[in-house]
Amino acid sequence: MFDSNPFIFKAVCLLILLRSFDAQEKKCLGREPQELEDGCTIIETKPLVFKGTQSEAVIRTKVEKIHEIHAGLEIIETDYENFDFLNKTLRVLRNPEGAAITIRKNTKLKRLGFWALSTLEAKKDGPIIIIDKDPFAQIADKEGDALRDLKHLEFVSRIGVDPENQCPQKFAEVIRYKEEVPFHNYWVLFLILGVVLLIFAIGMLVWYQRTKKAVKAKKAESAQSKDLEKKADGADNGIGDGVPEKAGSMQVKVAAEDPKNK
Ligand SMILES: *[C@@H]1O[C@H](CO)[C@@H](O)[C@H](O)[C@H]1NC(C)=O
Repeated sequence: MFDSNPFIFKAVCLLILLRSFDAQEKKCLGREPQELEDGCTIIETKPLVFKGTQSEAVIRTKVEKIHEIHAGLEIIETDYENFDFLNKTLRVLRNPEGAAITIRKNTKLKRLGFWALSTLEAKKDGPIIIIDKDPFAQIADKEGDALRDLKHLEFVSRIGVDPENQCPQKFAEVIRYKEEVPFHNYWVLFLILGVVLLIFAIGMLVWYQRTKKAVKAKKAESAQSKDLEKKADGADNGIGDGVPEKAGSMQVKVAAEDPKNK
């Protein structure tokens, strides 16, 4: 049959060849590794995001065949110490939309394994790698291995770039925890100010109450003293209330007339 029509034979061969070529690559939309289908080889459109604590074994089987990432890689809030999932397999890592690698708020990250990488590219006017509020930045300052991993990545990102280039693309952008400190300080300041104001207000209130009381007391005192005067007057008039007036006057008379009293 094929002998009679060599054109169809060639076409069928080409088709089979193309299919087998296609079968070698499996393109997947980027997401978290545990949600990927099995056997992905190229990640595109969205970043591949390693996030939180997931089963390492599952992740390893999901990413073992990936050798190209076309939309960036993120390592976020994990507790991996040694990120080596793609160490020997990943050849191309690029992201035309932003940083190629974003590292954010991991707790223990100390090593970045991308030894097989030969292409590392990010958006032209941004950094290749972002380290955002991640202790990895401090570790890379102190520990040789972490620094070497970064240097290797930097080296790969400079491949093919003109060494004479006066302003090469920024390699790493580090966002430190410090940014939150001023906010913290403001808080303390506001708190102190608030407490001072409160104490002042309470002081004012106490003072006001006291002066009010004092004024009242004074008023009451003066009123009382008037009362007292009145009362005293009343008392004078009525000396010996209940003592008959006659008796009183008689006593006075008696006293006056008593010659012994002289
Ligand atoms: C990546 O693989 C190389 C070569 O096997 C090894 O020396 C290196 O320590 C690995 N990196 C990490 C982070 O595991």
